[in-house]
Amino acid sequence: MSEKTASVLPSSVPSPRLKSSPRLWAAKVVLTLCALPVFLHLLSRELDALSPQRDAALLSTIGGLLKSEDFKSQAVEWLSGAVQVPTEVYDAMPDVGQDPRWEVFAPFHDYLNASFPLVYSTLSLTKVNTYGLLYEWTGSDASLKPILLAAHQDVVPVEPKTYADWTHPPFSGYYDGQYIWGRGSSDDKSGLIGIMSAVETMIANGFKPARTVVIAFGFDEEASGRQGAGSLGAAMRETYGEDHPFAFIVDEGGGFSDKYGTVFATPAVAEKGYLDVHVEVTSPGGHSSVPPEHTTIGILAKLLVKYEANPYKLELSRESIPYALVQCHGEHGAEMPKKLKKLIKHSAHSDHALRKLEKVLFEDRPFRALVGTTQAADIIHGGVKSNALPEQAFALVNHRISTQSSVGETMAHDTRLLYSLAKDFNLSYTAFGKAISQEGAPAFGTLTLADAYGTSLEPAPVSPISGAGSEAYQLLSGTIKSTFAAHRSQESGDGIVVAPGMSTGNTDTRYYWKLSKSIFRYNHKGTIGKTDRLSGVHTVNEAMSADAQLEVIRFFVTLILNADEATSI
Ligand SMILES: *[C@@H]1O[C@H](CO)[C@@H](O)[C@H](O)[C@H]1NC(C)=O
Ligand SMILES: *[C@@H]1O[C@H](CO)[C@@H](O)[C@H](O)[C@H]1NC(C)=O
Ligand SMILES: [Zn+2]
Repeated sequence: MSEKTASVLPSSVPSPRLKSSPRLWAAKVVLTLCALPVFLHLLSRELDALSPQRDAALLSTIGGLLKSEDFKSQAVEWLSGAVQVPTEVYDAMPDVGQDPRWEVFAPFHDYLNASFPLVYSTLSLTKVNTYGLLYEWTGSDASLKPILLAAHQDVVPVEPKTYADWTHPPFSGYYDGQYIWGRGSSDDKSGLIGIMSAVETMIANGFKPARTVVIAFGFDEEASGRQGAGSLGAAMRETYGEDHPFAFIVDEGGGFSDKYGTVFATPAVAEKGYLDVHVEVTSPGGHSSVPPEHTTIGILAKLLVKYEANPYKLELSRESIPYALVQCHGEHGAEMPKKLKKLIKHSAHSDHALRKLEKVLFEDRPFRALVGTTQAADIIHGGVKSNALPEQAFALVNHRISTQSSVGETMAHDTRLLYSLAKDFNLSYTAFGKAISQEGAPAFGTLTLADAYGTSLEPAPVSPISGAGSEAYQLLSGTIKSTFAAHRSQESGDGIVVAPGMSTGNTDTRYYWKLSKSIFRYNHKGTIGKTDRLSGVHTVNEAMSADAQLEVIRFFVTLILNADEATSI
């Protein structure tokens, strides 16, 4: 396969940014260019790369280790061994204890214990809901807010029919001299093992934290996270409090890649909301030889056509994260067409330019999906027999809710949308537990809208990326830059621009909102160059390059050291 993570920044990628002056982390007024446009007029430059001062020698020692073949073999072995313990989870599994399929995590725990002896002898470990792992690396200074590093132990199942399509078997952890192959090698065992490898290495080199480091590993992220992160979140609120006790949280998420000729790292600082709407129509049954004009199936079809004819209104808000990202692309995209650059700039203060910009950007479906509330009819069911009128028919419409909207607004929108059809068909209409049609009116049947599985989720609170409260974002940005630079033997962090990202999906952090205001979903890995995509996540031939894994380890070491001595978070 063509998958490859570039370990060297192509020299053709020009450094787009202004030369920045020496870093002054102590100075609190650090401005970042890629922030919310409200602050645009204030911004002059991006945050510089950030490396620890107090523990500079330690980082340098570990940096040396990372370059050794011995350490590389160790890092490969750690990840490869983790891949060899299959930890597949499936949708809708009964609770832990009621389904033997959860038991795959016991051998995985044994593997971690055997592989990271210093972590196990130094950190305290609490098992939450049997398989959730919660470690605490207690710092010497209790006045410092702890940080939380998160990852998930589970992997998406490998479809047995595809076993033969894998270049190397999915649970082989095979190392070909460049890549570690197998399910979970990237998502998310590279992150989980990256954290463990970093901590093990730091302990081995004598580091003792001042700031407490908490590590949480869920075990059903790929199946909603309720059993794992759901329980871990509750346990952490119990232990550390509900008023954002952590300075920041880093969980899996966006990485880095090149866009418009510049490398951008995009830690996700927001997440869309979620709602599955169950749309159900009932009407009298009977023999189909004497049918009414419309059966429940016919009516349901009309309702779905109505949905599709009325997509949610799309609007690019200047306050949104996708807009901040676009601003950042405009500012730093070295090869972005001049016209687009200008349009992006103007859109900050001209509504006309903003509408024009929307036209351009909304041609890209993934971008549209990031901005707006989406809808997709994903399930339909009705009828049992060719000669019987269907008494019931239902569909499921899946929504991913815009960060500018809410669950309530989405429910209200759908309720309104179907109102006229409910009336036309004389259906007694109930939406999300509320009677909508007037009582006593003659009814041919019913229309009911409901939260299908009770799994609705508000859009996540947006982590601050500029101004007061954004210190953790700045620390993360600086860490990304210095890691990226160090791994490529560059002088500075100028090879990469950090921009706020978001994704259309959700991670375990949905259960961690009360734990920190600064939640980042970020894996320090990515691809540079168009033909250089990391692939295989959630499908065949998932693989992780050994060099990329070393960079993940360096990222966590640097992050922990930077956080340990930061006075601003
Ligand atoms: C880790 O392994 C050691 C040695 O087998 C054992 O004594 C210890 O109880 C294990 N710890 C955990 C948390 O399982
Ligand atoms: C709805 O009810 C009205 C009044 O009872 C009736 O005239 C009409 O035919 C009904 N329409 C349907 C589709 O059942
Ligand atoms: Zn994942």
